[in-house]
Amino acid sequence: MSTATAPAKPRPTKPRVADQQLLIGGKWVDSVSGKTFETLDPASGEVICRVAEGDKADIDLAVRAARAALETGPWGRMNASERGRLINKLADAIEAHKEELAALESLDNGKPIGDSLAADLPLSIQCYRYYAGWADKVFGQTLPINGPYFCYTRHEPVGVVGQIIPWNFPLLMQAWKWGPALACGNTIVLKPAEQTPLTALRVAQLAQEVGFPDGVVNVVPGFGPTAGAALSGHMDVDKIAFTGETGTGKIVMTAAAQSNLKRVSLELGGKSPNIVFADADMDAAVEGAYFGLFFNQGQCCVAGSRLFVQESAYDEFVHKIVAKAKGRKVGDPFSTDTEQGPQVSQEQFDRVMGYIDAGQKDGAKMLAGGGRVGEKGYFVQPTVFTDVTDEMRIAKEEIFGPVMSILKFKDTDEVLARGNRTNYGLAAAVWTRDIGKALRLSNGLKAGTVWVNCYDVFDAGAPFGGFKMSGIGRELGQYALQLYTEVKTVTMAL
Ligand code: NAI
Ligand code: MG
Repeated sequence: MSTATAPAKPRPTKPRVADQQLLIGGKWVDSVSGKTFETLDPASGEVICRVAEGDKADIDLAVRAARAALETGPWGRMNASERGRLINKLADAIEAHKEELAALESLDNGKPIGDSLAADLPLSIQCYRYYAGWADKVFGQTLPINGPYFCYTRHEPVGVVGQIIPWNFPLLMQAWKWGPALACGNTIVLKPAEQTPLTALRVAQLAQEVGFPDGVVNVVPGFGPTAGAALSGHMDVDKIAFTGETGTGKIVMTAAAQSNLKRVSLELGGKSPNIVFADADMDAAVEGAYFGLFFNQGQCCVAGSRLFVQESAYDEFVHKIVAKAKGRKVGDPFSTDTEQGPQVSQEQFDRVMGYIDAGQKDGAKMLAGGGRVGEKGYFVQPTVFTDVTDEMRIAKEEIFGPVMSILKFKDTDEVLARGNRTNYGLAAAVWTRDIGKALRLSNGLKAGTVWVNCYDVFDAGAPFGGFKMSGIGRELGQYALQLYTEVKTVTMAL
C-alpha cells in the first residue's frame, strides 16, 4: 500500500464521554436505585465517566419492555425481510461511526486504536450484515409423517433473550449476540461488562436511531452478581447467552436451571494448544504463535496459551519468538504504532502478574518480560516462559494476559495426547507442511475450532464455540440460528 501521496490522517484522539444512562423500552433512564459506577481508562486508571448502575429492579423493567416489544409491539408482526433491513441499517450506522466507535472501544478497553479499526469494527459490521441476510431465510420443513396428516415445522423466536458479555471484545461480542438474536425475531436485554459498558450503549443508541422499535434492544450496565444474576435467574427470560469465565458460566447455568429452565448457551474459557512441528514454515509459525498469544493484550478466549514446539525446532523457534516479544511496542492505545495497550483493569493486571510469579516459582525459564511498564495504567511486558511442563499452573489455567508458555514435544501421538489433556476445548492450531499430520491432528484435537497454518481467523460465517468446559452451543454461522429459535411442529389432520 503506497502512502506517499495520501494526506496524513488526523491522529485519533481520546474522546470525551458524558455520563451514561440505561436504555429500557426506548427511553434513556437512570437506575431505579439512582446508583452509578465509574468506568475507567485502563491506560491511566482515570475515570472516563459515570454509568447508571442497573440492578434487579432495572432488569425487571427491561425484561418487561422486551416482553411487550415482542408480544404487542410492531416487532413481532414485522416482515422478516424488514428485520433484515433494520439490521443492515444498524451495520451501516456502525460503519458511518467507525472512527468514533473505535476510539470509544480503545478508551474503555485499552486496546490499540489500530486493532479496534482493523479488527473489532470490521468484524462487528460483517457480523451484523451476515445475520441481516439470514433474517428472511430462517424456515422450517414439511415432513412426510405416517397417516392422513399435513405436518410442518416453524422456527419461531425463543422470545426474550438475556445476553451477558465480557470486556475483551465488547463491540464484537455484542454483534455476535445481537446479530442472530435479531435476525430470528427475538427481543434483547443486554448486560455489558462493568469494565466496558460504553460501546454497547452507543450501538444501542444507533439502533434506536435507525428505527428498531422501542424495547427490542435494552441495555442495562451493572455488575455480575447483581444485574447479571437477576437476568440469568429471571422467570420471564426465555434464553440466556453468556460469554466469560468458565466458573461464571456455571453460575449462570445454575441460575437458569433453578429459575425457569431458560435455554443456555455459553462461550467460556480456553487453554488452547498451538502445535508447531519441526517441518513447518518456521517464520510463519513464529508469526502465528506471536499473534495468537499476544493479540489483544493476550485477553482472548482462544489465545494459543500452550505453545507446543517440536524438539528439533525448539531452540530456533524460542530464539526468534523471544526477539519478537522483546521488540513489541507497548504503550498509549491512541498512538497508531502501539502494538500492545494495558490490561483492562487493575484486577486483571494483578491476576496476570500473579501468574508470572507462579511461572517463576514453578521453575519455568523467563526469557522475556516479567514486569510492568510505566507507573500508571495496567501495562504488562510481553512475557515468554520456556521449559514449561504440563503440570505447571501457567500451562493449566487461563492467564488472559501477554504471557506465553512454551512446551517441548517429541512426536505426534505424544503431542495429541498432551494437547487434549485439559478440561477446556475451545481452539487449537497445528503448524506443519505434512498434510497427513495436519489431518490427524485436526481430527484428533478436542476443540471447537482448529486452525491449520494460521491462527485467529474469524468470520461471521464460521461457527465458533467450545468442546468440554469451554462452552455449550455454537455462535456465528448458520449454527447460531439454532440458539435463537424454538422449533414448533404443527400436525394437521387432512
Ligand atoms: P466474568 O466471567 O466474571 O465476567 C463476564 C461477564 O459476566 C461480565 O459481564 C460480568 O459482569 C458477568 N458476571 C459476573 N458474575 C456474574 C454472575 N454471578 N451472574 C451473571 N453474570 C455475571 O469474567 P471476569 O471476572 O471479568 O474475568 C475473569 C477471567 O475470566 C479472566 O481472567 C479470563 O480468564 C476469563 N474471561 C474469559 C472471557 C472469554 O472470552 N472466554 C472473557 C472475559 C473473561
Ligand atoms: Mg468475575
